[in-house]
Amino acid sequence: MKTQVAIIGAGPAGLLLSQLLNKAGVSTVVLERQTREYVLSRIRAGVLEWSTVELLRAAGCGDRMDREGIPHDGCYLSTAHGLFRVDFKERCGRQVMVYGQTEVTRDLYDAQDAIGATIIHEAADVALHNLGGDAPYVIYQKDGVTHRINCDYVAGCDGFHGVSRPTIPASVRRDYERVYPFGWLGVLSRTPPAADELIYANHPRGFALASMRNANLSRYYIQVPLSDTVEDWSDDAFWAELKRRLPSRFADTMKTGPSIEKSIAPLRSFVSEPMRWGRLFLCGDSAHIVPPTGAKGLNLAASDVHYLSRALIGACTAGDLSGIDSYSADALARVWQAMRFSWWMTTSLHRFPDQSEFDQKIQESELDYLARSDAAQTAMAENYTGLPF
Ligand code: APR
Ligand code: PHB
Repeated sequence: MKTQVAIIGAGPAGLLLSQLLNKAGVSTVVLERQTREYVLSRIRAGVLEWSTVELLRAAGCGDRMDREGIPHDGCYLSTAHGLFRVDFKERCGRQVMVYGQTEVTRDLYDAQDAIGATIIHEAADVALHNLGGDAPYVIYQKDGVTHRINCDYVAGCDGFHGVSRPTIPASVRRDYERVYPFGWLGVLSRTPPAADELIYANHPRGFALASMRNANLSRYYIQVPLSDTVEDWSDDAFWAELKRRLPSRFADTMKTGPSIEKSIAPLRSFVSEPMRWGRLFLCGDSAHIVPPTGAKGLNLAASDVHYLSRALIGACTAGDLSGIDSYSADALARVWQAMRFSWWMTTSLHRFPDQSEFDQKIQESELDYLARSDAAQTAMAENYTGLPF
C-alpha cells in the first residue's frame, strides 16, 4: 500500500490530523492497535479550549458539538478562604466548551467515514522504518499477515505507550518529567451536575473537582493516595468524601447515584524533545502528558495537529518544507506553556504528602491572590481558555 502520510494511532490526535489532511487532498492511512469499539469506550476529560472548538469546526466535525456542547463562561474555585468564581469571558473574552472527549472521537470517526478515509484497526506490531531517508515505510501485522505501507511522512499519534517515541534513538531524545505523589479517583454518574459550572476545590483532605458531560451526566474526581485502588472506594464512600471537599452550598443539594464508571489515574507532567526526527513527527500524548488539572491533554493534541497539518499540507501539496522544519519548535513552545499552567493548577490545588507548613502558607497565599487580583484571574482565564495557536 502507498500513502502520503501514515498516521499511527486513532485517538483524537490521529483522527483529527487525518481529517484535516484528507480535506486538503493529502492521502493518509491510520493504523490503530485497538478495535474501534475499544477506542470509543475510553472516558477522558471534557473541556475544549475555543481554538480546539474552531479546529474541530474547520475539520467539518463540529455540528454535534455545537448542538450538544455546553459553552462555559467561567469556573468556581473553592479554597480555605471561601468560594470565588473566575469569569473567563469577562477577563479575556473567551469561553470553553464542555463536551466529552469520547464524543469528540465519535464525531471524528463519523467524519472520517463520511469522506471514506482508511483506518485499519487491530494493526499489531507496528514498526517504523527508514525515517531518516527519503522513503519511509511502516510494517504491521493484521490477521496473521504482514503488511507494508510506503509513505512520505509518518505521524506518531499513538499516545504515551505507543511505538513512535521509542523509535527515536535515545541519543537524540531528551525527556523531561515530573510525577506527582497522588492520583485522581474519577466517577461518572447519571445525575445532574452539582453546579452550573465546574468547581475546582482545594481542601485540607485533598483536591476535588465537580465536572459534567450534560444535564444528566456528571463527572467527579477526588485526589487519593497512589496506594488506593478502586476496590477501596464504594460509591457511598466516594460521595461522602466528595461532599466533604466541595463547598456546602453545592454539596448539600448535590444529587448522587450509582457510578457508571470508576477509575484511578496517576498524574504526571512529561515532555519529550524533539517532536520531529527525520520524517517522523510526534503529535499529542506520544510526545507529552499533562496532569488533568487544567484539562489540557486533548487541547494540546489539537494544537500539535494544527501545526502538523499545516506543515504536512505545505510539504505534500506545495513542496514547502518550512512548516515541517519549524514543527518541533512551534509545537513545543505551546506545549511548555500548557505544561506550566497544568503544573501550576496541580500544585496550587492539591495537598502534597510532604507539604511543610511553609508550603501550605504559600499555597494559601497563591489562591488568596487569585481570589483578589484581576491580573491573576486574567492570567488564569487566558491559560485555561487556551493560548492562541
Ligand atoms: N500501534 C498502533 N496504535 C497504537 C499503538 C501502536 N503501537 N500504540 C498506541 N496506539 C493507539 C492507542 O490504542 C490509541 O488509540 O494510539 C492511540 C493514541 O490515542 P490517545 O492515547 O488518545 O492519544 P492522543 O490521540 O494523542 O490524544 C491526546 O486525548 O486520549 C486523550 O489523554 C489523551 O487527552 C489526551 C489526548
Ligand atoms: C472532566 O470533565 O473530565 C474534566 C474537566 C476538567 C478537568 C479535568 C477533567 O480539569
